[in-house]
Amino acid sequence: MGFSERANGYIERVEATLDRWLPAESTEPRALHAALRYAVFNGGKRIRPLLSFAAAEAVGLSPKGVDAMAAAVELIHCYSLVHDDLPAMDDDDLRRGKPTVHKAFDEATAILAGDALLTLAFEGMARDRASSRAIGELAAAAGSGGMVGGQAMDLAFEATKPTREALETMFRKKTGALIRAAVVMPVAERGADDPSHRALGEYAEAIGLAFQIVDDLLDIEGSTEEIGKPAGSDEARDKATWPALFGLEASRRHADDLTEAAWAALARLPGDTDGLRWLGERIVRRRS
Ligand code: IPE
Ligand code: IPE
Ligand code: MG
Ligand code: MG
Ligand code: MG
Repeated sequence: MGFSERANGYIERVEATLDRWLPAESTEPRALHAALRYAVFNGGKRIRPLLSFAAAEAVGLSPKGVDAMAAAVELIHCYSLVHDDLPAMDDDDLRRGKPTVHKAFDEATAILAGDALLTLAFEGMARDRASSRAIGELAAAAGSGGMVGGQAMDLAFEATKPTREALETMFRKKTGALIRAAVVMPVAERGADDPSHRALGEYAEAIGLAFQIVDDLLDIEGSTEEIGKPAGSDEARDKATWPALFGLEASRRHADDLTEAAWAALARLPGDTDGLRWLGERIVRRRS
């Protein structure tokens, strides 16, 4: 069985954990709880949870120990999308092919839903007894030194032409950090000097950067129907993106080169790395 078949089982696993963690829609305040479920169960690709399960395979760990980490990183990702789409940020009306949370509900509900998803990620991990080092990895990746900091840079860079180094730092923070956390959390307990932790970190940093470059390419080359979010949104907001700075061709080439660096890191892992390879290829070849 290839990873593409195992992936469906992993998606079912993470969705079962998410369903268990999220309050029922009938729980008061109902509109808020409906918004949480709307933000989570709306057709996301679940790439980050899949990366956690594939990383476990690559070091010979069972998926059971990864369930809480996989669910938590997806919750933080979903919260980041809800806030990213708000009028004060990217002001987008479509996400995963449906109205964004602030459109389907209202702005205050979208802000609070994001807050609640972020908090639930850590509540779930603590309750399911994830390792404190994994919790620490995810917290650091989500915060002002990671995703939130990257989002601040993204907004500050609108209508500017940052240096390549600054753009890369922004990508590593806003997108790479959560992807890295998804990949290294399964071995977080071993500490940063563990050889598998290092190899997984290198793989994740390469594909994390490639992920955002491809996202920027899809904003230009994809249709709204394919990507499930408004095509051309970056240009409309004068965002600093990889293709805006370096062109389509060079962006595509750089994403491909980054995967080569990712494959080199995979060679140093002891277990089955087919899943990480499959996900890396999907990240650069995807159309949505
Ligand atoms: C989109 O992430 C946001 C970025 C970090 C570029 P995904 O492309 O993984 O979004 P979903 O979860 O599949 O909707
Ligand atoms: C968002 O980058 C990264 C996040 C941390 C949410 P984008 O703003 O390009 O993501 P999309 O294109 O709206 O999904
Ligand atoms: Mg954004
Ligand atoms: Mg956006
Ligand atoms: Mg984008």
